[in-house]
Amino acid sequence: MLSNQAGGEKRTSLHGHWSSRMAFILAVTGSAVGLGNIWKFPYVVGENGGGAFVLVYLVCVFAIGMPVMMSEILIGRRGRRNPIATMELLGKEEGSSAHWRWLGTLGVVAGILILSYYSVIAGWTLSYIVKSATGTFAGATAAQVVADHEAFKLNTGITSLVHTLFMGLTIFVVARGVERGLEQAVRFMVPALLIMMIVLLGYSINSGYFATGVEFMFTPDFSKLGWNSVLAAMGQAFFTLSIGMGAIMAYGAYLPEETSIAGASATVVIADTSIAILAGLVIFPLVFGNGLQVDAGPGLVFQTLPLALGQMPGGAFFSTIFFILLAFAAWTSALGLMEPAVAWLVEHHNRTRTQAAIIIGGVIWLLGFGTVLSFNVLSDVKFLAGTIYDNVDYLTSNIMLPLGGMLIAVFAGWVMCRNSTADELGGSGGIYRAWRLLARFVAPIGILFVLINAIT
Ligand code: PHE
Repeated sequence: MLSNQAGGEKRTSLHGHWSSRMAFILAVTGSAVGLGNIWKFPYVVGENGGGAFVLVYLVCVFAIGMPVMMSEILIGRRGRRNPIATMELLGKEEGSSAHWRWLGTLGVVAGILILSYYSVIAGWTLSYIVKSATGTFAGATAAQVVADHEAFKLNTGITSLVHTLFMGLTIFVVARGVERGLEQAVRFMVPALLIMMIVLLGYSINSGYFATGVEFMFTPDFSKLGWNSVLAAMGQAFFTLSIGMGAIMAYGAYLPEETSIAGASATVVIADTSIAILAGLVIFPLVFGNGLQVDAGPGLVFQTLPLALGQMPGGAFFSTIFFILLAFAAWTSALGLMEPAVAWLVEHHNRTRTQAAIIIGGVIWLLGFGTVLSFNVLSDVKFLAGTIYDNVDYLTSNIMLPLGGMLIAVFAGWVMCRNSTADELGGSGGIYRAWRLLARFVAPIGILFVLINAIT
């Protein structure tokens, strides 16, 4: 374990450092861009009525997400450990309490719970690679694609198998360490995904229903927006940016000293938001053009995109590539979800990275069956927010991440002294003052306000 070097020489991390500023931005972008953008964003927009939800989501991304992300990175870099140890160390160092480690613990648990269902949906994308490559969708009608997806979800064997496969791949890479592979994967995956979305956008612009899709996404009708939808929009902002649970904090721990945190955060937030909006612009025209259900839920993307791709020339090829890219995007996010728990096990319980990855991954794999079965055998088991999957999703995205984000903002804005934060954010100029205003007031008060209104 490293010694407390406060005031003296800067700390370094046990797990190595990113090779450059670009490597860090790529890793955080890889964590942010994932199923949240392409699978979840369109389906929650659809379930929550469109325009007004998108507007609230965008406000949350910039007014709350951005300052929380900056806070998380600066805390991570200052502590240079796993989120639990970092919170404990900085809590003491800043003259508050070691109990701040519970905030780290909340994040570790949130990451484990999120990955338990994330892996199941990522498994679906693996299946869809095979389905695409074998021509399942070539020339298929909307009804056929929807029926195929319904049958697929009911297949406990296949969905268990692909969940297992995805967890195996994740464990393998996490065991090998932070840098190797990840950088290269993201450098290729994000631009490729962007190009693919633009090709699909071309298709949806020509579908004759583009204007209907745009109108649905950008004409706010606030009469449809209850507090629960506002909370869902805020939760989606946290989820898509990977904030509120220590993933970004863990990555920040490996960030070189001289990198600008504000610049890196802005890059990531803009890239992530653009991909989500693009996904919506591709999917909604397809939904309206083919008479599909806009509130189809988690199956939405798997019902719309194969249909569009299946009708394009070279469809089987493009569809295969698309699902490969989506699986890649999910995979680079999964690494971030596991990193806090693994780093913690390595530092505190003297495990090797490989052992830690297998233990944590094994637990997540088991928990994942709650979600696998939510779509078939246990689909009728409903309580509170709905199925087991609905509950895990609600608890993590709508409660744990916002709560974690609020406490992170409070810690960076109120507990840490001005000198510490100004030091990490590169001085006390305009950007610093804007960050501090958002982190001290706007983010915590906004989050609390939404949580209270939605839950009571
Ligand atoms: N941001 C990821 C996505 O949009 C999910 C994620 C959440 C990853 C939290 C890491 C931490 O798919």
